[in-house]
Amino acid sequence: MLNASLHVDTTESVAPVHRRTFGSFVEHMGRCVYTGIYEPGHPTADAQGLRQDVADLVRELGVTTVRYPGGNFVSGYRWEDGVGPRDQRPVRRDLAWHSIETNRFGLDEFMTWCQGLDIEPMMAVNLGTRGVQEALDLLEYCNHPSGTHLSDQRIANGHPDPHGIRMWCLGNEMDGPWQIGHLDARAYGRKAARTARAMKMADRDLELVVCGSSGSTMPTFGAWEATVLEETYDAVDHISLHAYYEEHEGDLGSFLASATDMDGFIDSVAATADAVGAKLRDPKRIQLSFDEWNVWYLSRHQAEAALQPTDDWRVAPRVIEDRYNVADAVVVGNLLISLLRHSDRVTAASQAQLANVIAPIMTEPGGAAWRQTIFHPFALTARAARGQVLRTHLNAPTYGTERHGTVPVADAVLTHSEEDGATSLFVVNRSTDQALTFDADLNALTPTAVTNAQTLTDDDPYATNTMRVPDRVVPRPAKDVRLEGGRLTAVLPPVSWSVITLATRG
Ligand code: AHR
Repeated sequence: MLNASLHVDTTESVAPVHRRTFGSFVEHMGRCVYTGIYEPGHPTADAQGLRQDVADLVRELGVTTVRYPGGNFVSGYRWEDGVGPRDQRPVRRDLAWHSIETNRFGLDEFMTWCQGLDIEPMMAVNLGTRGVQEALDLLEYCNHPSGTHLSDQRIANGHPDPHGIRMWCLGNEMDGPWQIGHLDARAYGRKAARTARAMKMADRDLELVVCGSSGSTMPTFGAWEATVLEETYDAVDHISLHAYYEEHEGDLGSFLASATDMDGFIDSVAATADAVGAKLRDPKRIQLSFDEWNVWYLSRHQAEAALQPTDDWRVAPRVIEDRYNVADAVVVGNLLISLLRHSDRVTAASQAQLANVIAPIMTEPGGAAWRQTIFHPFALTARAARGQVLRTHLNAPTYGTERHGTVPVADAVLTHSEEDGATSLFVVNRSTDQALTFDADLNALTPTAVTNAQTLTDDDPYATNTMRVPDRVVPRPAKDVRLEGGRLTAVLPPVSWSVITLATRG
């Protein structure tokens, strides 16, 4: 049996829990939009063709912001194709995902979907094939009240009120050679700076996200962030981070420690941004937008993509529809712990993606929608993490991994809401074969009762949910959780993620 103990510092909070931490991502890719969130003719579709079975799951997931319309897709996208009368919208090739884009769903449909779900949109502009003028046009169409060519066009298209979009991404993964219109860091930094300055001339309250590296393994990582920020520091507010994790060749131990990589990635980008700020003598602090993160079996996808015929152009093909297991869900829960722990710098995040494409929600055309394993830690964290992230110190045994060196066997984060006294502890046991006895001295918060305790685990770490058995893997009431004299103890099974919520007087 392993033992870990948590010390909570009630005198200091890291930062508030940001609602934007629980963002997601809808890209025109595979079946995320078509037969995902949008499917006219589906038995649950509303008059707009928006699937209400999926909308209900999005609500349950607790998604707060959604990044749109890509991803790699945005770098070849003409937003004008997706507005106005549907029968006049052009059908185009999407080179990023080698598919046919019908444009039956576009900007205004996305905004209607967001409004119905109380979701904040995060819009990306195309800095691959396009530039400053098209970004300004899109901004005018979306946010200008009325009386100009493009705002009046929005009104004529049935949207009298401005969309009021505040957060904007300046392109997507422009460091990647796969990106349409890929640029080197200096060229992208200058283009992003020109676009950002022009957009802020229209509205100085916009929040702009400049592209960081598409991953920390990119050869240009670090230098890319420094150069891009040197060019854009005064004009942008956030820099993006993207990271995907997968289990490589049965190395479950390394995979379960993926959040240690995320921790290091966040710390390095924050340090790089601060170094540029110091060099420029600019007191502003750039925030981090972790706007693509998830488990993605990318190496499997790359092998399959290499075999795909190039003359095959389809509408909404089944692309990267990964089926997630218990271990994947434990890793996703742990990545959320890492994001919360860094709430002083990571003020927005988007799990990629929302439906069908590496997603917590799966659907069948004309059929059911169901929750993948990774749905659960996201939904429970989005619901329970409230108030402030408190500073904690965890004492836990360590184990050796192939990919991340020596890492602690457990990880945890704690949030506390002064409003209603609710305190939530999120904790993972990364051991593949041993239970962990976990204790936390919560006396300073004067806990009175455990109000909810749930664990996601299974005897088989590779168990999945399917359309036929959608609830094979669900969170279950945690066993062996005790509160005695302000001390919380819990016995956590191997490969598990848990949330324990307490009522407190503190
Ligand atoms: O989320 C899938 C893809 O991953 C996105 O389109 C791209 O930005 C990233 O490489």
